[in-house]
Amino acid sequence: MKRVAVLISGNGSNLQSLIDHIESGDLNAEIAVVVSNDPDAHGLQRASRAGIPTEVITLGEVADDGGNRTAYNIELAGLVSGYEPDLVVLAGWMLILSDDFLRHFGDNIINLHPALPGVFPGTNAISRAHAAFHRGEIKHTGVMVHRVTAEVDAGRVIASEPVPIFHGESVADLEERIHMVEHNLIVAAVDMVLRAEPSD
Ligand code: GAR
Repeated sequence: MKRVAVLISGNGSNLQSLIDHIESGDLNAEIAVVVSNDPDAHGLQRASRAGIPTEVITLGEVADDGGNRTAYNIELAGLVSGYEPDLVVLAGWMLILSDDFLRHFGDNIINLHPALPGVFPGTNAISRAHAAFHRGEIKHTGVMVHRVTAEVDAGRVIASEPVPIFHGESVADLEERIHMVEHNLIVAAVDMVLRAEPSD
């Protein structure tokens, strides 16, 4: 069984979708650990409820020990590597990862982002797309899953799907529809990547 480490920062609804599809037998994988940079992330409760080990590593605690971003990335890499994942999935992970982390996992890190390739990288992608639509600059937005590189929300695209924006809908409505698309796309992308990996 392929082992997946899921990194989160908040609600964890995409983590929940992975858990649900594994439990129903649709996705052949085991979540070896859920790691959060925020001790209050709701996704940690979702993981515990499913019997999945959880870890929290905050930027603050590493800084208190005299560490910086480099130290954080190295410590995080050590923590995640300890669970021997075949794949690291960033599912709502909101910290930028440097090469000090990335080099430990090669091509085996993927990220979910609520925008189409090449547009709206970084935070608040959904509200920025909503505003751009109302300025007449875009006709739709979308979601994507891509391989992770040091460049934020860039890297080879594994799967993407356009999401329409409707006149008069609020950012919250758009966000809800985007999440619904994400919940399927993340499962499909993890499945695709794990199937493509050679078996042990
Ligand atoms: C998702 O919309 C995900 O695409 C986004 O955070 C949300 C997490 O939701 N990630 C990024 O913006 C990364 N740049 P969740 O915690 O409910 O899964």
